[in-house]
Amino acid sequence: MNDKSFSRRDFVKFMGGSTAALMAISPAALLTSCKNDIGLKGITPTLQDELVLAPGLDYSVLIKWEDKLNTEDYFGFNNDYTAFFELSESEAILWVNHEYPHPMFIGGWMKGGPRTKEQVDKERYNLGGSLVHIKKDKNNRWSYVENSQYNRRLTATTEIPLIATRDIKGARVAVGTFAGCAGGVTPWKTVLSCEENYQDYYGDYSSKGEFKKSKFKWDDFYKLPPEHYGWVVEVDPLTGVAKKLTAMGRMSREGATATVAKDGRVVVYSGDDKANEHIYKYISKSTDSLDEGELFVANLEKGQWLSLDWSKSKVLQDNFKDQMDVLIYAREAAKLLGATPCDRPEDVEINPKTNDIFVCLTNNYNKNEPDNPKNNYYGKILKISETNADPLSLTFTSSDFAVGGNDSGFACPDNMIFDHNGNLWMTTDISGDMVAKGPYEKFKNNGLFYFPLSGKDAGRAIQMGSAPVDAELTGLSLSTDKKTLFLSVQHPGEKSKSLTELNSHWPKGGNEMPRPAVVQIFGPLFDKLNG
Ligand code: FEO
Ligand code: CA
Ligand code: CA
Ligand code: CA
Repeated sequence: MNDKSFSRRDFVKFMGGSTAALMAISPAALLTSCKNDIGLKGITPTLQDELVLAPGLDYSVLIKWEDKLNTEDYFGFNNDYTAFFELSESEAILWVNHEYPHPMFIGGWMKGGPRTKEQVDKERYNLGGSLVHIKKDKNNRWSYVENSQYNRRLTATTEIPLIATRDIKGARVAVGTFAGCAGGVTPWKTVLSCEENYQDYYGDYSSKGEFKKSKFKWDDFYKLPPEHYGWVVEVDPLTGVAKKLTAMGRMSREGATATVAKDGRVVVYSGDDKANEHIYKYISKSTDSLDEGELFVANLEKGQWLSLDWSKSKVLQDNFKDQMDVLIYAREAAKLLGATPCDRPEDVEINPKTNDIFVCLTNNYNKNEPDNPKNNYYGKILKISETNADPLSLTFTSSDFAVGGNDSGFACPDNMIFDHNGNLWMTTDISGDMVAKGPYEKFKNNGLFYFPLSGKDAGRAIQMGSAPVDAELTGLSLSTDKKTLFLSVQHPGEKSKSLTELNSHWPKGGNEMPRPAVVQIFGPLFDKLNG
């Protein structure tokens, strides 16, 4: 079977069923009244090993792990953020982050077994990003163009300049990018890929020199400075040329969501995805570059953006030798200034109608203290309203947009996108070892949710999709023709015990190994909601 056209219809056929009932539903039957007062029926949570979608939505796999891009390169592992760059009415380049490895799937490593250089080399190739040329047919379905000149890989070995005011650990060039989680798109149509859990590869040092060991032990074979990672990487989708923007600070940054202020400067919002870390914004110095600018961190209680400019702050001058040091240890600097610790800030999106800043605070709990009343298992979506709806404001108010839990029906919000009608789509990330367990029992597999922003259902979470076993849905992006939602299905089957005891066989089914993949979602319901 051709994987590029492997749709839910094929899957049902493959399983011996019929799609007649699914495909016969008319748009009118899906919605009981017009846009936003929709009485929309979602799906109920499920543990099925499939990307289950609400009636009126369908999907097909666009590209999956190890699909050939050209004679040299293949599509990397654990696709996350996607960004759509239109080339013409029917062609585009899709940027895709490849976040983190699964050493068993990539190189056959088994728990407790030795790590080898060959395994690490293969993992280094599989992370980074892909640029993929895609084309659509007359039915508005996309497929990727093998051997296109636009197809490229960035990996953990690609040399990338550090845009910095001085050397960092003796260099101005970093070896590779990895841990790219979410991201953003600049006004000049480049991608911002955010190196999130950078400490898992070569470890990390605090400003006092304390070392934290790496998780994936790449540092057993390659001695590279951890300070070269944890940055925003800006990539030109047409050429693949990349640079690391150190002025935005170093942290486990989830994403980087850009907007243009009245005077043309660019403001970029980010969350630092670690328990009790912070929400940041960055204001560029010029209107056509993010290379220089000022970094701020949020104090939610006071409703203030606090500057991380070394030249303006005695406490920063007393603790760091220069601005570059503040940026390298941005978390430590933020704490000294009085930043508000948050429940793991993930993706940020900007409501196109109101300019409100939506931030997913995914959860915050101590696994060893399950009964601690301070545990936040479900997370929420926080709304920040800048004074005068101006992204250059240094003051704001904040409130809850939606709170996770058994009543609202979602837990652990992670990634978001506002659609063409200004309604919100969100995906969840309940950690693999907690899915359907304890406080998460009711939610079953991770999901895709839709929140109308107006009408009688405003702010209500409606579940539109459910991920295959062990997977997370992420990397939402939209085609400009409004017909397609691109979505990453990341880490299906990641809790499998071995290569012969697999938890998931998605997307191919049978006895196949699970493969992370980017899918395209479409259908009459999507046309109705987003059209
Ligand atoms: Fe890679 Fe914060 O999720
Ligand atoms: Ca994420
Ligand atoms: Ca997003
Ligand atoms: Ca996450």
